[in-house]
Amino acid sequence: MTDTYVGAIDQGTTGTRFMVFDHGGQVVANAYEKHEQIYPEPGWVEHDPVEIWENTKSVVGRALDEADVEADQLAAIGITNQRETTLVWDHDSGDPVHNALVWQDRRTTDRVEELEAEDKVEWIRGKTGLEADAYFSATKVEWILDNADPLKLEASRPENLRDRAEAGELRMGTIDTWLISKLTGNVITDVTNASRTMLYDIHDMDWDDELLEEFGVPWSMLAEVRPSSDEDLYGHTDPDGFLGAEIPVAGALGDQQAALFGQTCFDEGDAKNTYGTGSFFLMNTGNEAVDSEHGLLTTVGFQRSGEPVQYALEGSIFITGAAIEWLEDVDLITNAAQTAELASSVDSTDGVYMVPAFTGLGAPHWDGRARGTIVGMTRGTRKEHIVRATLESIAYQTRDVAEAMEADSGIEMGQLRVDGGAVKNNFLCQLQADIIRTGIVRPEVDETTALGSAYAAGLAVGYWESVDELRDNWHVDREFTPEMDAARADRLYDRWGDAVERSLDWARE
Ligand code: G3P
Repeated sequence: MTDTYVGAIDQGTTGTRFMVFDHGGQVVANAYEKHEQIYPEPGWVEHDPVEIWENTKSVVGRALDEADVEADQLAAIGITNQRETTLVWDHDSGDPVHNALVWQDRRTTDRVEELEAEDKVEWIRGKTGLEADAYFSATKVEWILDNADPLKLEASRPENLRDRAEAGELRMGTIDTWLISKLTGNVITDVTNASRTMLYDIHDMDWDDELLEEFGVPWSMLAEVRPSSDEDLYGHTDPDGFLGAEIPVAGALGDQQAALFGQTCFDEGDAKNTYGTGSFFLMNTGNEAVDSEHGLLTTVGFQRSGEPVQYALEGSIFITGAAIEWLEDVDLITNAAQTAELASSVDSTDGVYMVPAFTGLGAPHWDGRARGTIVGMTRGTRKEHIVRATLESIAYQTRDVAEAMEADSGIEMGQLRVDGGAVKNNFLCQLQADIIRTGIVRPEVDETTALGSAYAAGLAVGYWESVDELRDNWHVDREFTPEMDAARADRLYDRWGDAVERSLDWARE
């Protein structure tokens, strides 16, 4: 019998990956392509959804070719995606009416301040589990409907976008919905992605009429919400389409929830931190949606067909890996791998702190106007100190959310599972263990985001029969235990708090 596999499309902030996994959860094929980051104004970030779809097709084709896998050897395809990033498209033509507004985009900060002034923050949190912020989809779709210039986009259809939305001509979605609709023709999202829109009630598990009214989003624009692993399937790929085969599309999760799933954090108290553009620290809280009193989000962790929802607490840190990219942008390093060597060439930052609040600060501060800061420099400061301070900022921000997580959940973390591009950096992993005072465990397959969505799709079609099989697939690559003296770690961390205050002060000017 020919071997079968499961494919996963991982559509992230900087690029798109397609991976193929075998039954043991091992990587069989992998192709990746970056897409353009569009910055029309300071603080604005856009992606071209058409480029993302073209890249998706191209990485799927390349990965299958390179590994010599036929499309019909795929038992199912799962999707995982950058969350919150939002687009609006014409249902008939399938054409976007505007670029996607990326999760990092801060253009709707004024609108969020309006919500704050109108005392709507608690009301929003009560329904959605989210902190009112420009990060989420609601103010982004509202902005597109109010501001996208239809004349520029479609000369033949100059009507107001709001009228067209009311007439049922437009759809909105996060990137999962865009890709599912391109792959299957069906407008579907999963519960985890829906939970990031700020339009979805995570207790009732449905779109919320009052929030839809607040942001002017008609029901007709919305996707049907399904479990993350769906035995009813989202649909099939078109046998006459680019893949040339009819493959079930059966699983989707926002990328951070996919990493939780891929790390097999299926039980209450299991936690993971993913180091990508930003870092997203999620703890499974079981069937209970735990309210946060310390600046975390309450969000949907995942749902399997016929099973209750599993919730999670999340600490969303906007900039971690992107701070390393910034070091590259300003020519302090030539590649990310260099950071370990430079940072370890000095014993400390010599008092320098870097707060990479380039797009405001997320958890636990939630201040969209905070800005990046480097403090404590002297004439003796060298680039090695700044590089080290940047890596340390990743570890400190993680401690900020880990402390909030323990306070909210009452669970003391025994160890933290980590994944994402930056965990290849042993220096960073050791530093993280030192600062957070907890064991850091890196699994063998660190592409856990793609793996999680493959697992969701594979479970739905019976490729894997139970989560126990998935647990057996998870193996430790390396564990890092705290080596730094605890008092030193606490001293360094205390001073970090002062640096963060400076970055927040900037927002108050
Ligand atoms: O919430 C944003 C997050 O989903 C983005 O993840 O890995 O694409 O930076 P990533």
